[in-house]
Amino acid sequence: MLKLFSLDQENDSKKRIEELRKEIERYNYYYYTKNESIISDFEFDKLLKELEELEKKYPEYKIEKSPTKYVGATDLKESKFTKVVHKKPMLSLSNSYNIEDIIAFTERVEKNLEYKHEKLEYVLELKLDGASISVTYENGELKRAVTRGDGIEGEDVTDNILAIETIPNYLKEKINIEVRGEIVLPLTRFEKLNEERLANGEEIFANPRNAASGTLRQLDSQIVKERGLDAYFYYVVDPLTHGLKTHKESLDYLDKVGIKTTKIAEVIDDLTVMEKRIAFWETEREKLDFETDGLVIKLNNIDLWEEVGYTTKSPRWAIAYKFPAKQVTTKLLGITWQVGRTGKVTPVAELEEVELSGSKVKRASLHNMDEILRKDIRIGDRVFIEKAAEIIPQVVSSVKEVRTGDEKEVVAPTNCPVCNSILEKEEGLVDLKCVNPNCPAIIQGSIEYFVSRDAMNISGFGSKIVERMLQLNYIKDITDIYELSKYKEELMQLDKMGEKSVEKLLASIEKSKERPYSKTLYALGIPFVGKFLANVLAKKSKNIEVLSLMTKEELLEIDGVGEKVAQSVYNFFKNEKSIETIEKLKEYGVNFGKIDDKREEKIVEHGKFSGKTFLFTGKLQKFKREEIKDLIESLGGVNLSSVSKKLNYLIVGEDAGSKLKKAEELESVIILTEDEFIKMTK
Ligand code: IVH
Repeated sequence: MLKLFSLDQENDSKKRIEELRKEIERYNYYYYTKNESIISDFEFDKLLKELEELEKKYPEYKIEKSPTKYVGATDLKESKFTKVVHKKPMLSLSNSYNIEDIIAFTERVEKNLEYKHEKLEYVLELKLDGASISVTYENGELKRAVTRGDGIEGEDVTDNILAIETIPNYLKEKINIEVRGEIVLPLTRFEKLNEERLANGEEIFANPRNAASGTLRQLDSQIVKERGLDAYFYYVVDPLTHGLKTHKESLDYLDKVGIKTTKIAEVIDDLTVMEKRIAFWETEREKLDFETDGLVIKLNNIDLWEEVGYTTKSPRWAIAYKFPAKQVTTKLLGITWQVGRTGKVTPVAELEEVELSGSKVKRASLHNMDEILRKDIRIGDRVFIEKAAEIIPQVVSSVKEVRTGDEKEVVAPTNCPVCNSILEKEEGLVDLKCVNPNCPAIIQGSIEYFVSRDAMNISGFGSKIVERMLQLNYIKDITDIYELSKYKEELMQLDKMGEKSVEKLLASIEKSKERPYSKTLYALGIPFVGKFLANVLAKKSKNIEVLSLMTKEELLEIDGVGEKVAQSVYNFFKNEKSIETIEKLKEYGVNFGKIDDKREEKIVEHGKFSGKTFLFTGKLQKFKREEIKDLIESLGGVNLSSVSKKLNYLIVGEDAGSKLKKAEELESVIILTEDEFIKMTK
């Protein structure tokens, strides 16, 4: 039995090895031949590592041409250029992702050296994300330039390299030298190029690396000249023959003879410093006009390179440090349609768990159906995700190249996934909406919003608890929160809700009644009224009665309030259910703005002006502005700030202007002199 099991396992491993090789080769093909990244480096390296480990465990399945031994190569079969064998193979670099990897690298370096060296020096430099090139100068004259190809043999692109202005055709010294570096397309040129291509209806380049590589393979050198490629060199072949003892010296030498380097090379002999400088470059690189995908750490002492040695793929005396990927790929397993508190139904991507910028991600936003169609995203697709503004992950694109044919097109729901009522789509808008006010998802959403920290700040109301209370009918809408004490005993029986937490919750509910008006206004969840606008509206209106009586025009007069907000606030207060909710909350003692005491009494007693609206205009003789306002409010009236159908009385002072004219046009407005108004107050 045991034997059988291990045989099975071995079979599985063999299958996995083959699968991994195929997958890795596929990524290599896209990367090196098509210049397309369809997986992040980090994920690629993970697959490679898995294969390496399996090959170690099952040496019988090792093969000569495994991707663990060879770097991916450009397929030169269809190349239009002459092939040239490199004098020395063009190697790649192994990757590292954190300081631990780098420490392990330095330890490996030391292990490979016969003698212990006190403090080994390393050079930290930029890793340019372009296309590598090897350039040979004879007697100071540029003779040949060859792409990396498969590392052994590359393409002769000399004519194109001669067209790059920043690569000298003649050096400052008549030397024989072979140098290696990276051809890049400056970011500013890249943007310009893509703009032009877009305007000409041509396909745009996915990234600067892709554009540099594509340009380098142009048959017409004139095009190369126009594109404005640039180049930076970082390696001298056979440095010792040029008397170069350290890597730093070789970079300085390149500069001296007229070969461009990035001029960024820091000699470091302390790993704490190294860690700091890596962190520095992680942000500093954003300021550069070329793309970098990491840093390279090289042993400075060239004398020791041979002793430290090489693998078939890369030197052991150097390592690349890759910056954390901004985007990673994962599989889109399905889509959940989520109903928010406003009824908006949004697609949420359910993903195979993946790590992104230090956190595990299982769900991401897909925005709306239009976006899904525009990006042609299908269930089962491998998708790129990224963190938008470093907070909520989003699906950026899908990798069409790795589709198997089993992917399924996304179908938008016709019914609410929660209450099953038919969904609506507002004209001109992309979002689907559940318009059933009794939809449990909408109620739950509005309760969670109501109790949230920026709103009523009621603690102890996690979404699981809210869900449970809704199921048990303890709450049906936000107003029921203030009746929860009725269910104290029952609440204590709920899962994870001891006596203490129930008491805390009830105390927090009680305390929420004292929240400032701006917070209670925000808590109502009026569409488009966020924290900031709630504050503005609260300041302007002082209390909710005033706000509820404002016309759209009056709302529009408030700084920061536009058409959309004005309409939304206006509609909200036209809705009977909203009014009923506010009335109920008020009865429970929730604060909706202070009305001065006198006025409060009058309102309760149905003051003389209760339910009436006033506005004054022109220069008043008998009142100061604040005085008349206070008087109106103390009698239960409401001050408006502009003429509208809602206005009952306009009090006119001297030199009244447009407000009077407008009021005269509206038959419903009663126009009063100051004396007439005074009489009314008596
Ligand atoms: S050194 C033996 N230094 O990255 C020397 N390579 O991922 C090996 N690259 O194939 C290369 N910037 O095309 C080196 N400062 C740098 C580099 C650099 C970019 C490229 C190069 C290499 C690839 C490895």
